[in-house]
Amino acid sequence: MLTSFPAGSHALVQGASRGIGLEFVRQLLAQPATGRVFASCRAPDWAAELLALAAGDPRLQLLPLDVSDEASIARAAATVAGVTDRLHLVVNCAGILHGGPASLAPEKRLADVRPEALTASFAVNAFGPLLVAKHFERLLGHRERAVFASISARVGSIGDNRLGGWYAYRGAKAAQNMFTRTLAIEWSRSRRNVVCVALHPGTTDTDLSLPFQGNVPAGKLFSPERTARQLLEVIDRLTQADTGRFLAWDGSEIPW
Ligand SMILES: NC(=O)c1ccc[n+]([C@@H]2O[C@H](COP(=O)([O-])OP(=O)(O)OC[C@H]3O[C@@H](n4cnc5c(N)ncnc54)[C@H](OP(=O)(O)O)[C@@H]3O)[C@@H](O)[C@H]2O)c1
Repeated sequence: MLTSFPAGSHALVQGASRGIGLEFVRQLLAQPATGRVFASCRAPDWAAELLALAAGDPRLQLLPLDVSDEASIARAAATVAGVTDRLHLVVNCAGILHGGPASLAPEKRLADVRPEALTASFAVNAFGPLLVAKHFERLLGHRERAVFASISARVGSIGDNRLGGWYAYRGAKAAQNMFTRTLAIEWSRSRRNVVCVALHPGTTDTDLSLPFQGNVPAGKLFSPERTARQLLEVIDRLTQADTGRFLAWDGSEIPW
């Protein structure tokens, strides 16, 4: 796994305390060729599973990073830059669909739309990965292979939208996708070593999907372990020709 990266490659998993991000951390650490893994979330002191992993592996460093607070992103980037001058893999996992201070709840109809929920969803799902790119860009400015992957969602596809609803989440993931594509175009000129993609993980058994799992057909709900493994396989196969693409867990293309 991850044979396409140089030995000793360093990774940042952003949104790593739970769910898919936590599994990315586990699987990256399971590979002896992995160098350092930086794992961020809002409150790492309370992230019991990350703390347990860090206690057993000196390659793992935990960072406080709230994607809705640009100063905290800048601080995390400065901390990483104090340890290494390069990252080879950045995976943006943080996302919200329900709950949080704005009491997000996917909207069934127009009357359910609330500005504070739209703002909260866009802050985390859309602006977050873009601001991470802004502050971590210099750590990708080397000549070795690098991948900047943002976990998106098929429901953020405009072309694939047949069911409607979920205004705040769909809109924010569509915006995230546009930012990913725009960033890929900029970096194809200025950071040619970086492959920049949006990835759909498939419906995965995490806190985020929990209230909606009743609608998932039997056998279609992935474990976080399976999802992280499948996405790492997709990441490993990426070439420069893939930059700016929106890909599903099986490597298939999703329409924007
Ligand atoms: N699960 C699915 O079926 C599914 C399907 C399609 C797409 N996705 C996408 O996959 C990604 C991962 O989702 P998941 O299912 O693993 O969700 P999850 O289990 O709910 O985990 C969400 C992660 O995001 C972090 N997070 C939330 N708000 C944050 C903020 N303001 N700043 C920094 N980190 C924040 C959380 O950390 P703390 O709360 O500890 O800070 C946690 O680590 C998301 O982008 C989601 O939209 C998931």
